[in-house]
Amino acid sequence: MTTKEKKTDNTQEYSLNVNVSPEILMQKAREAKARAYAPYSHFPVGAALLMKDGKIYSGVNIENASFGATNCAERSAMFTAISDGYQKGDFKAIAIAGDTDSFLPPCNICRQVLVEFCSPKMPVYLTKEDESIKKLLLEDLSPYAFVTLDM
Ligand code: THU
Repeated sequence: MTTKEKKTDNTQEYSLNVNVSPEILMQKAREAKARAYAPYSHFPVGAALLMKDGKIYSGVNIENASFGATNCAERSAMFTAISDGYQKGDFKAIAIAGDTDSFLPPCNICRQVLVEFCSPKMPVYLTKEDESIKKLLLEDLSPYAFVTLDM
């Protein structure tokens, strides 16, 4: 392929976009965190979800005076992507950012939602206030998860 052809080949751009680093994905999660609606807990969380086609969905926690109606950042991102038409197998990684001293993991409800749609091998990136990043796999966070096969 010539250089000129490369420039107009969408497939090239497509695969370039998918090479989003954990640092960039985490940055998107941190930026999202600023948009959290957390007037009750004062615990803002942001999530950034990388799709296999390179698109990034962000999500924030959205609280409610009826506390049980609260939605976590991870589920906000997942549900937005699914509402846009993405399906099982379309998810490549997720990054989660809070203002915590230790690595902030997804709650168990969010883990169950991730398990429903994402591969057990999907990377889940956590961070803490010093901005270091810890990589886990979804299967590390949810071993022996309940899935449709168990029904
Ligand atoms: N929260 C998230 O959004 N994601 C997590 O991983 C942990 C908890 C939210 C829910 C609630 O708005 C606040 O953090 C305190 O639990």
